[in-house]
Amino acid sequence: MQIGVQTGELKDSSAKAIIVTVFDGANTSTGAVAEVDRALDGAISRLVEEGDVAGKSKEATLVHTLGRIPSPRVLVLGLGKSEAFDGQALRNALAVAARYLRRAGAESVAISADPSLGLAPDACAQAIVEGIILGHYRYLVHKKEPEDKREIRELTLVEADASRVEAVRLGAERGQVSAEATTWARDMANEPANFLTPSELAERARQVAQEQGLEYEVLERKDMEELGMEAFLGVAQGSQQPPKLIVLRYRGAAPEAKTLGLVGKGITFDSGGISIKPSQGMHEMKADMAGGADVIAAIRALAQLKAKLNVTAIVPATENMPGGSAQRPGDVVRAMNGKTIEVVNTDAEGRLILADALCYARMLGLSPVVDVATLTGAISVALGKVAFGAMTNDDALFERVRQAAEAAGEKVWQLPLFEEYKEKLDSEVADIKNVGGREAGSITAAIFLKEFIEDTPWVHLDVAGVDQHDEVKGIFLKGSSGTGVRTLINLGLSLAERPLSG
Ligand code: BES
Ligand code: ZN
Ligand code: ZN
Repeated sequence: MQIGVQTGELKDSSAKAIIVTVFDGANTSTGAVAEVDRALDGAISRLVEEGDVAGKSKEATLVHTLGRIPSPRVLVLGLGKSEAFDGQALRNALAVAARYLRRAGAESVAISADPSLGLAPDACAQAIVEGIILGHYRYLVHKKEPEDKREIRELTLVEADASRVEAVRLGAERGQVSAEATTWARDMANEPANFLTPSELAERARQVAQEQGLEYEVLERKDMEELGMEAFLGVAQGSQQPPKLIVLRYRGAAPEAKTLGLVGKGITFDSGGISIKPSQGMHEMKADMAGGADVIAAIRALAQLKAKLNVTAIVPATENMPGGSAQRPGDVVRAMNGKTIEVVNTDAEGRLILADALCYARMLGLSPVVDVATLTGAISVALGKVAFGAMTNDDALFERVRQAAEAAGEKVWQLPLFEEYKEKLDSEVADIKNVGGREAGSITAAIFLKEFIEDTPWVHLDVAGVDQHDEVKGIFLKGSSGTGVRTLINLGLSLAERPLSG
């Protein structure tokens, strides 16, 4: 979608549709809606009087302008209660508008970052652009003929106040970069596992690197053998597909400055291995590389935004398959840092591949490190689709992640890593085992990871609950949501502005 910023009045736009917003109660006397209502000789306030427009959230009413203004249609979009309004409410409302206007065949759309919404101009513009792009997203790669080919091709933010134009432009650019990174990650996670193999994920990462001028490196099986990554290679040994450890580097700051490490779980299909999963819902495990896609998407966006920091993204990519050479429950493997692991359950494979990836991040000297993974079913029992879980060994870093998520309209909730949980991972035969039982399943998974990141400041994000959606709702569609990408981008921007102390 082409995104532009124009100076002038919204009512003078010749886009195929213009959007104006009303809060619950439908006051049409201020802001962009008032200006457009006047130009339409009161058509919108008339709809309010007649009870057709109330300003409820998800309400969308199309008004034909009959030549009174250049644009043929106005969409009056309800925002819900003003007390509950924030950037996320705006994103969700615009996502509804995007789908409505696509169905109406509006190829070009205009809106203004209306000051009467009470948001800063850059944040407002960013939320508008993100809402439209994320709500408009569809995954059509494998459809011969989509049912509806129509698309919004152009979005213009119209700004009358010259003093706000620069901020609106900046917000619109950030919004476009962040939303397109998110849809890139959605595309990757939605891609079936017969297309998106570990090699193909590496190839897509290479393309991103080439487009954005990132350094690209991939470690092959033999490189990983030399490094002693048995935990990762143990998971990969049941698959016909060669494993890849994908590394992308972005240098936006001095070489001696710290480098943020982003590590993402890249299981392109999780059958469970020999501890095979039940077949119901197993197809969703094509998205078990969502964390990996999220970190590649985030580094891509940080490069596009020319963030002044160094970032390295690491994605251990493999299938988890029950082939004849697959790892067996009870096998013992040695991770790169020398710790031995008893693999009690081959379906707890994410933590095994991340163990070596986190050791590798340490070897590269990355700090702080954030990992993103669809790690445990238990996190969706705890938090559902509303929030992703965070676990950390550094509360100051977590606080920055929390703020980054809040600014993105994403929700994160911290779970504790109390010492007492550690004994659940005690093994009779090795230094640690890979599962700690049903209780506190997300926490024991994180306690396991902590053994490999050691004292490097680290936050683990478990996105297993929030990645997949099964209904169309606001910015979410059926399939992968790309949740986490915009939090990571905001975190990168925040660390660029103000590095962690110490
Ligand atoms: N990829 C799964 C976690 C998952 C579950 C992601 C549901 C998305 C939706 C992970 O590899 C897994 O299988 N975890 C097991 C761990 C258990 C064996 C300790 C789980 O959560 O059941
Ligand atoms: Zn698994
Ligand atoms: Zn998995």
